[in-house]
Amino acid sequence: MVGFALKVYGCQMNVYDSDKIRTALVRKGWKEVPEEDARVVIFNGCSIRDKAEHKVWSELGRYSGRWKKEGLPLVAVVGCIAQNIGTDMLSRFPWVRMIAGPRHIGAIPGALEDLLESKGRILLLDDDDRAFYDLPTPPAERLNPWKAYVTIAHGCDNYCTYCIVPFVRGRFMSRDPGEILVEVEELVNEGVREITLLGQNVNSYGTDFTDGYRFSHLLKDVAAVRGLDLLRFATSHPKDFTPDVVDAIAGSDVICPGINLPIQSGSDRILRKMNRKYDLAIYTAIVELIREKLPEVGLTSDLIVGFPGETEEDFQDSLRALEKFRFDLVHTAAYSPRSGTAAATMGEQVGEEEKKRRLNVVNELQSRISYNINLSLLGREYSILVDGEAPKGEGLLQGRTPTDKVVIFPGDKEMLGRFIRVSISEAEHWCLHGRYMDTLS
Ligand code: SAH
Ligand code: SF4
Ligand code: F3S
Repeated sequence: MVGFALKVYGCQMNVYDSDKIRTALVRKGWKEVPEEDARVVIFNGCSIRDKAEHKVWSELGRYSGRWKKEGLPLVAVVGCIAQNIGTDMLSRFPWVRMIAGPRHIGAIPGALEDLLESKGRILLLDDDDRAFYDLPTPPAERLNPWKAYVTIAHGCDNYCTYCIVPFVRGRFMSRDPGEILVEVEELVNEGVREITLLGQNVNSYGTDFTDGYRFSHLLKDVAAVRGLDLLRFATSHPKDFTPDVVDAIAGSDVICPGINLPIQSGSDRILRKMNRKYDLAIYTAIVELIREKLPEVGLTSDLIVGFPGETEEDFQDSLRALEKFRFDLVHTAAYSPRSGTAAATMGEQVGEEEKKRRLNVVNELQSRISYNINLSLLGREYSILVDGEAPKGEGLLQGRTPTDKVVIFPGDKEMLGRFIRVSISEAEHWCLHGRYMDTLS
């Protein structure tokens, strides 16, 4: 038996890939153990911002003591970070003995076995950005028994000028709908009640097929899987947004009315420099359409401050956009130059201090907006899947509303995995607190 530890950073796609890796290793007879006992430690890391890479660098440095004493652990760095800077990690630390890009996931379990038998090192970088070595196992061994992610498309061809993803995850490729449906059925048969479909741009799902099968068709087909209670998805790129997706949500009890529609900037000038391919007028029309057809929708967004050339006026445009659209939640970030992307070499880079200031200002504004929206929900009742214990607080459980808001409430662990009705009793800017009413199913 080989003891392994899996350390996951970054977005939901990395969680999905890690669940598959864990499943493949467990099915080989390996066992997940605490990191300090593990013979093999796998880092599935992210490169989206400098900070994400830093975390892994500093974690990797910690193995020197154990390595000198025991020659362990065998460390593998996989995922986006491996594709981006894995070779630097390999040359810096002797305990890093394997790197594998996201499109080599299928080769990871076998390569780890080979390494245990040898003293060598293995490099599995995605030199061909169209090839894909998949791991033919569902994400069965998850940390959460009731919820699972399912990736529906690999890679990204949009080349937003700030973004590393097209360079590390390769070319866009939709997964076969039949394969996705089989995976969802398997998960639901094992007790999963909520599925989140993942893609960097779910709205472009199927654009590489010739039969006209698109994202809204997939949504309806997955929602029809018997036994599936909740279906969510992310991320929706505004440039490819089509009304049939809203219609699919409106016509279904399973597809949740929660949409993440990243705006990235409120300034048309900056959106052009970002290569986002929409402007504020187009974005506004989409939001109007969504809110007209889904009045209860939970609408979230992503926003970058301090993109090269962002003036105070552009920044004010972003603040105005937040006031105008009143998103339920916004993932904000200070622009982080990524080597190899177009924006990294643009002139007029904004200073670190100024980026921090702008980030504080947007966060303050958005917290206020989110808090006011959440306050308006006091007394409302929701049916939620109780999907875990709250990270803080004794005896507290949590779930999410169909509109994707976290609800925390005191409850019994026997409620885990069940649908209950809660009444909202308190609001914070990032979550709601509730009272248990009754158990539904
Ligand atoms: N595919 C999604 C986003 C994936 S990356 C989309 O198109 O919206 C997740 C978020 O990270 C992005 O929405 C963006 O806000 C942020 N991000 C990406 N690159 C960044 C960078 N270089 N600096 C700061 N934030 C970045
Ligand atoms: Fe990055 Fe743009 Fe692709 Fe999203 S759509 S992953 S931001 S390049
Ligand atoms: Fe990070 Fe890769 Fe996701 S860079 S955000 S883990 S696609």
